[in-house]
Amino acid sequence: MMAKIDDILAKYDSAHELIDMLEDIQAEYGYISEENMRKVEQDLKIPLVDIYGVVTFYSAFKLKPSGKHTIKVCTGTACHVKKSDSLKEHLMKALSVKEGETTSDGKFTLELVNCIGACAKSPAMMIDEKVYGELTAKKIDSILKEY
Ligand code: FES
Repeated sequence: MMAKIDDILAKYDSAHELIDMLEDIQAEYGYISEENMRKVEQDLKIPLVDIYGVVTFYSAFKLKPSGKHTIKVCTGTACHVKKSDSLKEHLMKALSVKEGETTSDGKFTLELVNCIGACAKSPAMMIDEKVYGELTAKKIDSILKEY
């Protein structure tokens, strides 16, 4: 059986299709590994540094696999006023990650976002599609335990 990456490489043959190809790789693997970038380099004859430039330019492309769950902490104005900063610090400490990083067990990726439409319940965060509001450090600890 051919690896998925070979199918994707076979689908495109022009350097103009680089973004389409990377989108397929992102969709298939959830990120663009260095190994796969090297395969694209050989296949489309585009220098690795240029591929890397495209991957880092578009936020839709990830260089590392995301965790099983994505936590989006709101840093928008309404949440900021309600001290979302200290909750963000609390989460970073509890998970031992910085913004954009994934926990070593691959369970959570932490992202900071700019309003998740739950201002009335600020401070708020989302885990995957679920919104959690009126957060406190204590509440965050018990929410994390649910996952
Ligand atoms: S500012 Fe945080 S939900 Fe709107």
